Amino acid sequence: MGTVMGTVMAMVTATTGATDRCPMTDDEFKIFRNLVHKECGISLSEARKDFLRTKVEKRLSALNIGSFFQYYKYLTEKNQEEMLIFLDSVTINETYFFRNLPQFEMFGEKVLPDLLERKRRARDYRLHVWSAGCSTGEEAYSIAIQLADAIPDVQLWDVRIIASDISLRCLGLANIGRYCADKLRDVPSKYLSRYFRRDGEHYLVSDSLKKMVTFDYHNLQHENGLENMDVIFCRNVMIYYEIAEQKRLVGRFAKALNHEGYLFLGHAETLQGITTNGDFKFHCWNKGTAYQRLRETHG
Ligand SMILES: C[S@@+](CC[C@H](N)C(=O)[O-])C[C@H]1O[C@@H](n2cnc3c(N)ncnc32)[C@H](O)[C@@H]1O
Repeated sequence: MGTVMGTVMAMVTATTGATDRCPMTDDEFKIFRNLVHKECGISLSEARKDFLRTKVEKRLSALNIGSFFQYYKYLTEKNQEEMLIFLDSVTINETYFFRNLPQFEMFGEKVLPDLLERKRRARDYRLHVWSAGCSTGEEAYSIAIQLADAIPDVQLWDVRIIASDISLRCLGLANIGRYCADKLRDVPSKYLSRYFRRDGEHYLVSDSLKKMVTFDYHNLQHENGLENMDVIFCRNVMIYYEIAEQKRLVGRFAKALNHEGYLFLGHAETLQGITTNGDFKFHCWNKGTAYQRLRETHG
């Protein structure tokens, strides 16, 4: 805390009365970087200094604020709405339909048959999936396509896909469900005519898919009370977090998942070194990978 205040004071001295902006100093970088980390867990390395500077400068211009420090004060003292805009601006939202196809194949051909068989046997017709860090919605709609495809009597089931993100901008686009062709590059052709409608240069997802997905704001730094999930997709999110945040997040996923439910991570993400107490079992099928929440063995 003392260090942070020291840095803030150094920034005040450096920027008081300044109207022209100087390059972002190391201290200014650190204080914004710490803020991002504290608020949403994203860890920005030194190499991301230009990225962060550009994002902050955009907000300074939009708000006609003269210095990094004034903006820092504005952000942290007064304005929750601006905090949402700022955090949104530092997120990386790259995504597309059926990203990491082997994982979706594993989901459709291995994981879903296993889940559906167990559910039918128990006469439990609920199937709940969480797309955590859903960006503009392509992942959640890809899941919806596979569920609609795998469950012929889907209307008899309580199928829910909850898709959450910290970016309100992305959630707005996800709700609209209108995508350029490039985002559909990996969609298997059998699904194109069934679940999409051409709209000029774009494609609209069908209403039947939209009905299956609920988009909601949620910052993964905080609990959101979701439980009894059968599957969680959290892909290409943890990659931006340090180990301690990853551990906290996976702990929350373990609580939110049903026993024998599945967790899908991005291809560069792993639970190795994150969980040590046998909470999850690793599965590999063709080139797809997933983790399965194990039954509690203690207690
Ligand atoms: C690279 S995208 C991944 C999208 C999709 N899961 C995929 O794999 O294609 C990462 C998403 O995670 C979101 N994100 C990052 N930190 C978050 C947090 N603390 N809470 C909620 N969403 C977060 C970002 O806003 C971004 O949309």
